[in-house]
Formats: sequence, C-alpha cells, structure tokens
Amino acid sequence: MDLKVKVAGIELQNPIILASGTAGYGVELEPFMDLSKLGGISVKGLYPYPREGNPTPRIWEAPCGIINSIGLQGIGMERFAEEYLPELSKQKTAIFINACGEQDEEYFRVAEFFDPYEEVSAIELNLSCPNVREEGNCPALWPDWSYKIVKWTKQSTRKPIIAKLSPNTSSMVEVASACKEAGADALSLVNTYLAMAVDFRTRRSRLSTLFGGLSGPAIKPLSLRAVYQVASSLDIDVIGIGGITRGEDLLEFLLVGAKAVQIGSITLREPAAAIRILNEAVSLMKKEGYNSFKEITGRLNIV
Ligand SMILES: Cc1cc2nc3c(=O)[nH]c(=O)nc-3n(C[C@H](O)[C@H](O)[C@H](O)COP(=O)(O)O)c2cc1C
Repeated sequence: MDLKVKVAGIELQNPIILASGTAGYGVELEPFMDLSKLGGISVKGLYPYPREGNPTPRIWEAPCGIINSIGLQGIGMERFAEEYLPELSKQKTAIFINACGEQDEEYFRVAEFFDPYEEVSAIELNLSCPNVREEGNCPALWPDWSYKIVKWTKQSTRKPIIAKLSPNTSSMVEVASACKEAGADALSLVNTYLAMAVDFRTRRSRLSTLFGGLSGPAIKPLSLRAVYQVASSLDIDVIGIGGITRGEDLLEFLLVGAKAVQIGSITLREPAAAIRILNEAVSLMKKEGYNSFKEITGRLNIV
C-alpha cells in the first residue's frame, strides 16, 4: 500500500504525526517505538527562552480525556537545538517545531532561529494554547491577530508554516481564512477545548488555574466537525487533531478532508499508540480494497 501523503509541500512517509506536548522532544519515546516509522513529530512548544509553565496541579483526568494546564513549560529553543535536535534528527521522520510566543515577535524569533536547520521540516505556530493567557485568550481566537503573526513569521523562514488553530471560537473558518491569506502553507486543528474541573468539597479548581484544555476521545466528534468545516471551506492542507485513538479514527479524519493527523493524549497512556493506530488503519484500508490513503482523503459523501 502507498502510505505517503503530502502536506504543506512536505512528503511524509505516512499521515501519522505525534502531537506537540504529548511526546516531549521526541527522543524520550525512543525506548518505546521506532520513531523512523512515523510520518512526523511535532515537538513540545518552544519559546525563545526557557519557561516554567503553570504551578501544579496541572493535569486532571476527565471521563474520556484529560484537562491540562501545563502552561507551555519548556527548555527554550537554544537548549532544544543543542541537546535534543542532533539525536532526534537521526530518525527518518519529519520534525516540526511548535513555535510559541508571549509577545508576537517571539514567534518570528523561533521560526528565524530554526531556518538554517535542514533537519527541521516545518514550523507549526502554536496560536491556540488556552492555558497561558487570561480566560483562554490566544491569537487563534482572532482573525486579525492570527493574520499578523503568520504574515510576520512567513518572512522569517523558508520553511513551510503551519498555523495551529483553536476550537474555542465560532470564527474558526474566518481565522483559518486569515491564516491562509497571510501565507500559511497548512493548518493544524484543533488544540484543546477550554474546560474546567472543580472540587465541590474544597470549592476550588482541580487545577492551579481556573481553566484548562480538554483533549482525548471526548473531543473527537467536535474535532471531526471542525476539520470538516475548515477543509470543506478553504483550499489549504489541513492536519486533523483531536481524540484519535484507533486506526478507524484516523481514516475518519482523512475522509472529512485532513491530509494527515496528529496523535496526542493517547500517547501519554500508551507510548507506542501511534504505530498501533497506523497498523490498524493500514489493515482496515486493505480490507476495504484501497491502495492509498489519498483514495479516501476528502471523499465524504454528503448527499
Ligand atoms: C499535556 C498536553 C500538553 C500539550 N502541549 C501542547 C503544546 O506545547 N503545543 C501545542 O500546540 N499543543 C499542545 N497540546 C495540544 C495537543 O497537541 C493536541 O492539539 C490536543 O491534545 C488534542 O489532541 P488529542 O485529543 O489527541 O490529545 C498539549 C496537549 C496536552 C494533553
């Protein structure tokens, strides 16, 4: 079977990418699976500098998912480039840098910094983390804000730019359209859903922050709808994310228009889940008589 897919102009050996924040800097998962079997890895969000993230507790298990409020803890772009990238780049898989910024110009700095690194395939702009600003605010809630960041960062690098969108807005198609107009090569969606967990006994939040972001199987139907809406409205590559835990989930995301997918929270429970999901999808495709993933991409029958 032909497993290859093309997204943002990059050829991936298959449509499976590990989602940012659920796979560390990639190399931590080497003991569990052969990373060279993956289509790609999006590394934990990187700022130009190290960040501590939010105080604990910052993960709460919910029915069918988790609510996190990590707050983008990380070692910063320079340490990642020195300590992790050389090892990660030995793997035959595409590397995506998940770029973050407290100030808008920081996205530019991260993208510019990685431009000379040939082993980096693309820059994924994290415009959508719901647990670093008040009330879940983030650039991807606003078409103008997203446009500005994509436009700027596009000038900082020759690498493809993927804008990662938020589901926490009724203007997702407008935001997606603004990112496309600003020059984004692809969109990835979705980041987590703004959520809460509270304890009636202590009358406090279960997290150190009031809100967190919900991910996992609970969000799959919502994410599928979001991917369909964006992929069917705009002519741009879409990477589908949200609650994928089985091969069949992956095929459903391709069917509604995603060119590739990212595997997130399931990796925290089952570190090699991505490979299992790929194998399951391939078996299902063979059973149904398909020869390539491209044959079902965007082929949802809506009449
Ligand atoms: C613990 C945790 C940390 C995350 N960190 C990031 C991050 O650094 N950057 C980012 O763009 N998304 C981050 N995400 C969002 C995931 O990449 C993904 O979009 C989301 O979890 C939905 O996919 P899932 O339902 O398969 O987990 C994080 C998610 C979790 C659960």
